[in-house]
Order: sequence, then structure tokens, then C-alpha cells
Amino acid sequence: MIIDRGLQTWQREKLSWLAPGARLGFVPTMGALHEGHATLLRRARQENDAVLLSIFVNPTQFNDPRDLELYPRPIEKDLQIARECGVDRVWLPEYQDLYPDEFHYRVDESFLSTQLCGRTRPGHFTGVLSVVLKLLGLAQISADPELQRAYFGEKDFQQLELIRGMVRAFALPWEIRPMPTVREPDGLALSSRNLRLSPAARAVAPRLYQVLRSATNLDRARAELEAAGFRVDYLEEHSFASGRRRFVAAFLEEVRLIDNVEI
Ligand code: PAF
Repeated sequence: MIIDRGLQTWQREKLSWLAPGARLGFVPTMGALHEGHATLLRRARQENDAVLLSIFVNPTQFNDPRDLELYPRPIEKDLQIARECGVDRVWLPEYQDLYPDEFHYRVDESFLSTQLCGRTRPGHFTGVLSVVLKLLGLAQISADPELQRAYFGEKDFQQLELIRGMVRAFALPWEIRPMPTVREPDGLALSSRNLRLSPAARAVAPRLYQVLRSATNLDRARAELEAAGFRVDYLEEHSFASGRRRFVAAFLEEVRLIDNVEI
């Protein structure tokens, strides 16, 4: 597995790295890899000739500096998971590689990004879309979207939908491949934030998914979640081209969990 610290080597080698017509699967992440990421990497491995993983904790998508500070960075463990999943190349860009403009240039989406998580996390999706645009641009090895696929999980469905929209809006030569949310046996969606739950909160956390799936309407869902000890941030249903979905964000102790299901 090749490890690129910074992007200079990649920029020099990217056009000669793969044989003409080879397919690239790209998995952009912020590290702290778990089974959800491993599923994306394994799928990228199955569907492509080469797999590129990026690990960059993107500061522009954090609203709370403390969240950024607390974000786990277990790089050696991440590289081990990458090896086990058959990744060919890992990028570890530095801030200056991705933000030579000091974030003066941004991708501003004006509709979906203001809803759901966008209401309580102003600027979050501008940071996500800006960094993903940069990453896709830097990872690009071909002008043919059939030869380049980028993988994102449905756990962050709003992010996935915004990235799909950006790729359409700017005619980026990438196929976006969504992957279903990976869950613990008790239903809790995998997330690096789960590690911050106390044992008591971890025991209650699977109720989020159970209630999201089973409640007959949103009022009941809210009442059931509050009774279980969640502080609900939002609980809403929205329609997309792929179908109607129910979304939730809720705090357990100080940890904010999100989830969504198709209805
Ligand atoms: O989902 C993530 O890990 C991040 O939001 C992403 C897409 C890698 C952008 O930093």
C-alpha cells in the first residue's frame, strides 16, 4: 500500500499510476475508520481495479472547535484497516494541500444544506462540499465517470444527497456510489461518536433506530425518544428521488447522534 503524505507525489504520479481504462474507487474519509468505512472500502475493492482512500480531518466542517479537537486520529489503526480492506493508496493531505486559498473559495448550496443538520450546524455543509470538491478534483485520473467512483454511506444521507447534487450541478466526472448504513447487532448506526457514549447511554442509544423505524408518526416518535432520555434536535420526513425518508438527530448526554431510514 502506497502512503502519500501531502499530495506532491500523487500529483506527479497520478496519470501514470493506473493502466489506461482501469477503474478507480475513491473513499474520502476523516479517519477513525470503523466497520462502516471498511464496508465502503471493501465494496470499492470489489468494483474497481484500484482503491484510493483519503484521510483528512477537515476543519472547515466543524462548528465547534472542541469537536475538532476531540476528533479521534488513530492513524496507525486506520492504516491497518486500510491494508486489511485491500486499499492500494492512502492520501494524508495537509491543510495547505487542500486550502492554499485559506478557504476563501467555497461551495455554497442554498436549499438542502439549510435544512435538517444545516439548521443547527451553520456552515457545516459548505465545509463538506468545499473539501469534497477539492478531493474529487485532486483524485481525478480520467474525464470518464465510468472509470471513477466515489463511495459515501447513507448514514449521512443529507451529505450524500448534497454531494450527488454538487456532482450533477458542476458536471463532475464521478459516479457517486451510496452504501447502506452499517449497524451494530442492536441497530445502532456505526459512528465514531459512539465511542463517546457512557455505558448507560450506549445501552439506550439503539432506541433511536428502533423508534425511527417503528413509530407510526413523528409526534409519537418524539414522545418515545424523550421518554427514553434523548433530547431531540430534529425529527422530520423528507422526499428525495430515491424515496421518502425519516431523519433524526438527538442528544444522549452530550453526544449528538443522527440516523435515517427509508419509509
Ligand atoms: O463523511 C465524512 O467523513 C466527511 O464529511 C467527508 C465526506 C470525508 C468530508 O470531509
